Amino acid sequence: MKDRQNIHGSWANRWIFILAATGSAVGLGNIWKFPYIAGENGGGAFVLVYLLFILAVGVPIMMAEVLVGRRGRQSPINSMREVAIEANHSPKWALVGWMGALAGFLIFSFYSVVAGWVLAYIAGMGNGDFIGMDGDAAGKAFNDLLADPQALLIWHSVFVVLVMTVVMGGVNKGLERATRIMMPALFVLLLVLLGYSMTTGAFGQGFDFLFHFDPSELSWDAVLVALGHSFFTLSLGMGAIMAYGSYMPKKASIGSTVLTIAALDTVVALIAGLAIFPIVFANGMDPGAGPGLMFISLPVAFGQMPGGHIFGFLFFVLVGLAAWSSAISLMEPAVAWMVERFGLGRMPVCIGLGIVVWLLGIAALSSFNFGSEVALFGMNIFDFLDFITANVMLPLGGLFVACFAGWILNKRITKDELAITNPTLYLAWSVAIRYIAPIAVAAIFVLNLIEKLG
Ligand code: PFF
Repeated sequence: MKDRQNIHGSWANRWIFILAATGSAVGLGNIWKFPYIAGENGGGAFVLVYLLFILAVGVPIMMAEVLVGRRGRQSPINSMREVAIEANHSPKWALVGWMGALAGFLIFSFYSVVAGWVLAYIAGMGNGDFIGMDGDAAGKAFNDLLADPQALLIWHSVFVVLVMTVVMGGVNKGLERATRIMMPALFVLLLVLLGYSMTTGAFGQGFDFLFHFDPSELSWDAVLVALGHSFFTLSLGMGAIMAYGSYMPKKASIGSTVLTIAALDTVVALIAGLAIFPIVFANGMDPGAGPGLMFISLPVAFGQMPGGHIFGFLFFVLVGLAAWSSAISLMEPAVAWMVERFGLGRMPVCIGLGIVVWLLGIAALSSFNFGSEVALFGMNIFDFLDFITANVMLPLGGLFVACFAGWILNKRITKDELAITNPTLYLAWSVAIRYIAPIAVAAIFVLNLIEKLG
């Protein structure tokens, strides 16, 4: 059995890998997107479908990504190629890595814009701007920000620089160091905020909204959104987890590690929902307010509670940290590939790719102001980027990885890498990766298409 070395380095231990991958998984997807899409899609029933996808589709595919990454010990593009060759198959499987790297850029471009809003709100909350504000004023403040391309550009630029500075440091001095500082801070902040919401918000109502199961609320569209979100939130289908897996120590067990990451990600999303909805309900606001939920409803709520602006400030710091640690992983696959391919240092690569994502981000932020007329398939650029990545490219990337691990790699490789000693557990993974995950993704795609055409 081959054991390759990774030229980029490796995580100090299993826990660092878990925290780094959790840092990638926990991000705007958990704190901004999950509550608002749950709100838009009726709450409980959507949440249940999402949880099922995490378990039956997300976890097995995450195991497959880590497996391929650790086997290949290179960037996702090169790992896919190496491992395919090892299994006597076409090196063209590297294309899956290419699509992932492209998805990473596209996600980064709108992710950075939203992260920029978060930075603006950290400043605003710190300034006490929202104290005593009502809903209309907060709505206007948010819309004013969106209508101001200069402000958006500044915050977006700051975020790109923050992310690129960490990626430039490399696996140990950049990614790992950031993980060691950011993740404990993130957990502490989350618990503080949960405590705050439990004592000041309408906790029961928020809880009921998230967990009350009413199947009549569920549409096919919601199922596609839940599927897409399960990929987005676990950072699957684009190589981020594969890249992080390539830095994972050989001894660590993939199954238990991945379960821990998925569980932490899910817990954070649910806690974020439990921190947000009670506050929204306590202030008589609309849970289905959409993307503005976090930027309009919450600041109003925070602004009206005693000491709320301090907690509001902490809340946006939390979201900023989460976004930062995720965005790092959006860039790592492409950066690692450039370093491998051209033998360049991380610094020039990060500067070059930083400029590319910075430009793409400008296209995304223009959707709210000077580019608002541009429409792609009936969506503005920002919505289109979100849709095409989360609902199309990530599930497709996941589908390919599942087929690759389930049907192309032989048992010798998967068994060796997963090292699951319990035969029933290995069988469960095999069934999930060969049948459940590919069939679920393909079926939901087709059904959605039929519904859209019908
Ligand atoms: N998982 C991140 C979130 O939930 O915010 C977003 C993300 C990061 C998606 C990295 C994909 C990725 F590769």
